[in-house]
Amino acid sequence: MSTAIGFFKRVLTAINPPASQPSLDSKPLKFGILGAAAIAPSALILPVRSHPEAVVYAVAARDASRAAAYAKKHGIPKAYGGPTGYQELLDDPEIDVIYNPLPNGLHYEWTIKALQAGKHVLLEKPAADTAEETRKMFDLAEKKDLVLLEAFHYRFHPAIQRVKAIIDSGELGAIKHISTALAIPAGGFKSGDIRFNHSLGGGALMDMGCYTLNCIRYLSSSEPISVISAEHTLHTSDVDRRTISTFALPNNATASLMCDLGVPLSYGIIPSMPQIGATVTCEGGVIEIYNFVLPTIYHSIKVTTKLAAGKGSTKRVEKVYTFEEGKMIGKGEAWWTTYRYQLEAFVDRVKGRTPQTWVDRDDSIANMHWIEEVYAKVLSSSYLPL
Ligand SMILES: *[C@@H]1O[C@H](CO)[C@@H](O)[C@H](O)[C@H]1NC(C)=O
Ligand SMILES: *[C@@H]1O[C@H](CO)[C@@H](O)[C@H](O)[C@H]1NC(C)=O
Repeated sequence: MSTAIGFFKRVLTAINPPASQPSLDSKPLKFGILGAAAIAPSALILPVRSHPEAVVYAVAARDASRAAAYAKKHGIPKAYGGPTGYQELLDDPEIDVIYNPLPNGLHYEWTIKALQAGKHVLLEKPAADTAEETRKMFDLAEKKDLVLLEAFHYRFHPAIQRVKAIIDSGELGAIKHISTALAIPAGGFKSGDIRFNHSLGGGALMDMGCYTLNCIRYLSSSEPISVISAEHTLHTSDVDRRTISTFALPNNATASLMCDLGVPLSYGIIPSMPQIGATVTCEGGVIEIYNFVLPTIYHSIKVTTKLAAGKGSTKRVEKVYTFEEGKMIGKGEAWWTTYRYQLEAFVDRVKGRTPQTWVDRDDSIANMHWIEEVYAKVLSSSYLPL
């Protein structure tokens, strides 16, 4: 089945999805975007185009002309700008859902305000700066009976779900070690990028490490027992460019993560290959996924199964763009991005239907907790005056 739609068709359709007709029997949800964010076109604006029950209705930016230009470029009917723009967006009675892709350090404040205004929230990851803030946001969402989702989009794609299903099936035996990595070569993010700004909630562990940690927790179906070690390479004195960390998992298993916002060029000129993978070593074999973050473009799932002693091993490769290909149940097309799968689940949830999967409150709180624990471990094991 994976050959039914080839690489070019899949990628071209993903970036230029067929427009859907607005649903006649279910009123489309109107989304408002907080900030003229660079991520919003991939994460929301394109996915909405092919969803019959969702529209992007408004955007707000601190700078009114920026908001207007962004709205025009993306065909968004309404723009709010200026110092009160964000709050005006939240107060717009037409809007059902707020998408919050603001810098991490502003997630908590504006998600609380959006929930107070009675809006559902699709919140970019990491959820906030601390587990405590995350808990407070979910408390308020529950109190107001609103949907709040931390946008761990990769979890909604069948590729990572297939990896977990293979592990859970027991075919490879108990987990011994999980290793995850997310790193891009230097130059991908400029030095002034918000990802390198401590007061805005930047840092490699916050920005990319949140995925690697989430992936360890998801694939192991458990929480770590402890952080064994953690180490930063700093960008500036208060923000990490790279973090490596190891964890103890239940049943004597271990895990490690590596995240890097800019791996230095070798010999000053040769960029490293981006690393975006997870490898799970089990008693009876190994499963490896390359590119769990953007699997629609390309990914591979390699499964190596040990045979009886002295008989070697067998290998197979799977590519799973739809639930059907992964022998699972769920809607979707091979060209759907992780964000499109996520939107499907989000709309289902708001409309009172059962989503294919979900990232729940406890999951988001725990992920933030372990990010905090890793930072704490670095501080306690370092002589650097951070
Ligand atoms: C971080 O962002 C804040 C708020 O935008 C800004 O005032 C500060 O100068 C930034 N810091 C760095 C190091 O860029
Ligand atoms: C974990 O390791 C300890 C010490 O080697 C051993 O006694 C225990 O049985 C192991 N537990 C599991 C679940 O393998």
